[in-house]
Amino acid sequence: MFLLSKMRRSTVRGLSGTGWGMIALFLGVLSLGAAQNNTNSSFIPKVAILMNCGSQGSKSDAMGRSWVGDEESKYAPPTVANLVSAAASSQDPSLPSPVPYMTARIFTAPATYSFVVSPGRYWLRLHFYPSDYTQSYPRSDAIFTVASNGYTLLHNFSTSQTADALTQAYLIREFSVNVSNDHLNVTFSQDRKSGYAFVNGIEVVSMPDLFNSAPLVGADAQFSISSSTVLQTMYRLNVGGQAIQPIKDSNLSRTWYDDTPYIYGAAYGITGDNGTNDLVYGSIPQYMAPVDVYTTYRSMTPDPTVNSNFNLTWMFYVDANFTYLARLHFCEWIYTLPNQRAFNIYINNQTAETAFDVIGTGANLGNPIYKDYAIYVPAQEGDPYLFVALQPDVAVKPQYYDAILNGLELFKLNDSAGNLAGPNPVASIVDNSQGPDSGVNASPSSHSSSSKGPVIGGVAGGVAVLGLILALFCFIHRRRGRSSDGDKPSGWLPLPLYGGNSHTMGSKVSTASGKSGTGSYVSSAPSSFCRHFTFAEIQEATKNFDESRILGVGGFGKVYEGEVDGGTKVAVKRGNPLAEQGIHEFQTEIEMLSKLRHRHLVSLIGYCEENCEMILVYDYMAKGPLRGHIYGNSNLIPLSWKQRLEICIGAARGLHYLHTGAAQTIIHRDVKTTNILLDENLVAKVSDFGLSKTGPTLDHTHVSTVVKGSFGYLDPEYYRRQQLTEKSDVYSFGVVLFEVLCARPAINPSLPREQVSIAEWALHYQRKGMLEQIIDPLLKGKINPESLKKYGEAAEKCLAEQGVDRPAMGDVLWNLEFALQLQETAMENKLVDDSTTDLIQMSPDYSHVNNSATYAVGDNSTSTSTAGHSLASVDLDDVTPSAVFSQLVNPQGR
Ligand SMILES: *[C@@H]1O[C@H](CO)[C@@H](O)[C@H](O)[C@H]1NC(C)=O
Ligand SMILES: *[C@@H]1O[C@H](CO)[C@@H](O)[C@H](O)[C@H]1NC(C)=O
Ligand SMILES: *[C@@H]1O[C@H](CO)[C@@H](O)[C@H](O)[C@H]1NC(C)=O
Ligand SMILES: *[C@@H]1O[C@H](CO)[C@@H](O)[C@H](O)[C@H]1NC(C)=O
Repeated sequence: MFLLSKMRRSTVRGLSGTGWGMIALFLGVLSLGAAQNNTNSSFIPKVAILMNCGSQGSKSDAMGRSWVGDEESKYAPPTVANLVSAAASSQDPSLPSPVPYMTARIFTAPATYSFVVSPGRYWLRLHFYPSDYTQSYPRSDAIFTVASNGYTLLHNFSTSQTADALTQAYLIREFSVNVSNDHLNVTFSQDRKSGYAFVNGIEVVSMPDLFNSAPLVGADAQFSISSSTVLQTMYRLNVGGQAIQPIKDSNLSRTWYDDTPYIYGAAYGITGDNGTNDLVYGSIPQYMAPVDVYTTYRSMTPDPTVNSNFNLTWMFYVDANFTYLARLHFCEWIYTLPNQRAFNIYINNQTAETAFDVIGTGANLGNPIYKDYAIYVPAQEGDPYLFVALQPDVAVKPQYYDAILNGLELFKLNDSAGNLAGPNPVASIVDNSQGPDSGVNASPSSHSSSSKGPVIGGVAGGVAVLGLILALFCFIHRRRGRSSDGDKPSGWLPLPLYGGNSHTMGSKVSTASGKSGTGSYVSSAPSSFCRHFTFAEIQEATKNFDESRILGVGGFGKVYEGEVDGGTKVAVKRGNPLAEQGIHEFQTEIEMLSKLRHRHLVSLIGYCEENCEMILVYDYMAKGPLRGHIYGNSNLIPLSWKQRLEICIGAARGLHYLHTGAAQTIIHRDVKTTNILLDENLVAKVSDFGLSKTGPTLDHTHVSTVVKGSFGYLDPEYYRRQQLTEKSDVYSFGVVLFEVLCARPAINPSLPREQVSIAEWALHYQRKGMLEQIIDPLLKGKINPESLKKYGEAAEKCLAEQGVDRPAMGDVLWNLEFALQLQETAMENKLVDDSTTDLIQMSPDYSHVNNSATYAVGDNSTSTSTAGHSLASVDLDDVTPSAVFSQLVNPQGR
């Protein structure tokens, strides 16, 4: 047994490698003996009301759920016919669906929805989209109270202030209410005489009895959650996994989010996905959490020294003066014996549990369990946070220093006055921390690395099924066929956004404020969508394609900076109608990008195909391409080693997702430093899918005679044999890694022959163990030697001559994360000084940076207007080996 678990352990290191197959096999064998007991407890809700307020008839949302208008509903206020209904004045691109958000019921006097239901617990979900609802009801005038069966759920609730502070376009508040008679009343009343109250959607769904009692952390007592307690869901995370949509959640219609935005510091540990059906719900009912929550997890690194020294910590912005219930979900997939993985659980620096050991509780491999803890968060100086930290319990000498978590829910409990309302968040607070009382999943950015800015990351993804592409093209076709589209407002593609085997991914959404937002964090429907823009809208957004707004130029056409919806910055890529190749790539990009949503992929917001135009609208990436930050633009602040590692890790995550996250493997084909873009928080996003291929089967039937990609990054094997695999991306990424380390272009013909190609040159030094000699002078003495070694090895492996010898992107990712941890440990121990302050001194004029100066780098164009280029040859690495090759280059907006 010991041998077995050792083998498992070692396979975990290569997270995405074939090792998982082995593990699955082992686990499969092991779980044969376990009782098959998972049909016991499916939950069928008796009541599931979805009410679309301010509307009539029934309409479907993007997930295909049907919402019934409140106009004729027997649950609506009796005066509903006299109440104002209004449509929102604009659609924010991050709305998951027009239903129920685009219509609202407006109240200028208290009004009560009265749901006649049998006694028991119900989810009550309230949906709000702060918008101007006609001129009479401006966005900022909505300040109101929502009460239910004697409890105050929201008070002085300013939807606009909350949404702005959280940079979310819409808000969802989820409560659990026990109804003791047969009415669930929900009353809306405005708090200002001249103001108003409103609601866009109300959900009432029966739920099983999920709450009981929990140990009160910091006191030797049990806290009992009585039948009359009302709870508000604050956060609900699928730790180490991807977002889970309501329709995938065993009839409880909960939304689970990716946990990465809440991780404190850069100690992300590693994530794992058991990926098999070995889960056996034994002691807990199946509805406790969906399968995906338990099969994916986050644990520490495989390095005990590192682990003994760090806490895996999640940080949540909360409201003070409330008691919270934290529910931690666990499922062990690796260790089979007690005391192999034993750890302490801390909540707000207080010990909730010592030597916690999943197997030690009596659970078998693949048996989920959960633990509840109650904790009171008193008023404190500064912003109230709730931290959950896991730390190996060295005192009990476990066999491995490690910890694991699979899911985490945090609920706020009503106070003794029956109140649940907290103050409205203030933008300045949120800038550092994100998300007070944001209901389900506000998002603390919390990465120490990017802690200065609002959270990046959100959950928007929903990789739609194949049907999406089809539907999209049918739709485009139909639109083309119509001479006028006056009968249909621009906006939402009527696409089936969810289906079959769709995966969801965390991803960034842009919100009305134009910041990296977390709009869909509060969404019950993370969604993949693609907005249609009219040509007039695009003209207005780009000031009629004002040349001064050009961000980049390439074979496909030009990229402009634009503004839509009164201020949201976007990048607008306008295809050159004469570029034949372009039509295909236009379609490829829509196909690819509309299917893909990930925090580390540039999001496509929409497109315009009017007047035979091919226009794509992307998220604006404020800091432009990575390359300018590494070399070639002395106006930019040099990046520290830690920042460079984090950027490489982000890009690796994006590529790893392309390779493994979607139904089909997607090969990027043009990985390079100009295609890795940075947002305002220096979060890396992979862009430019114009050349992407789903593969590798595709290439057998459709052998491309034209090798595409960029010179200097090209996989030699692909070049020779024209066989494309995801390992070609791995090769290019290896080039990127050396470029980032050495701060020079992939190809620089002005150098002596042996130095022209960075791949050859750096490999030479790496193999001799002398990599240190050629690194960016700015990094000299700033890199922990172990970190450099790990990084150099990773890059070297990527550049293996044969694709089969190269690691998978997941392995590269793991090695980079390890290199980052080594660097951080060294920084904590003051062995290296990673600070950029002295680097900054070397480029005194950084404060006057005009970001756009970095954009004008064109692939096929020889014109290089990039300011401050110190290397005349930088663009040569974009020279393409084929004249047919056409692509848009550097477009920061991709
Ligand atoms: C709801 O409250 C009633 C009493 O008011 C209690 O009997 C029942 O168990 C409660 N249900 C839940 C699910 O808490
Ligand atoms: C918490 O309670 C204290 C004492 O009752 C009060 O002074 C403080 O304002 C409250 N804080 C919040 C955020 O409600
Ligand atoms: C981990 O958390 C515990 C409890 O808050 C704290 O005592 C300890 O110092 C932390 N360890 C590290 C390495 O941060
Ligand atoms: C919540 O409200 C119920 C009913 O008013 C009350 O019994 C309970 O003590 C309240 N919870 C807290 C934490 O005060």
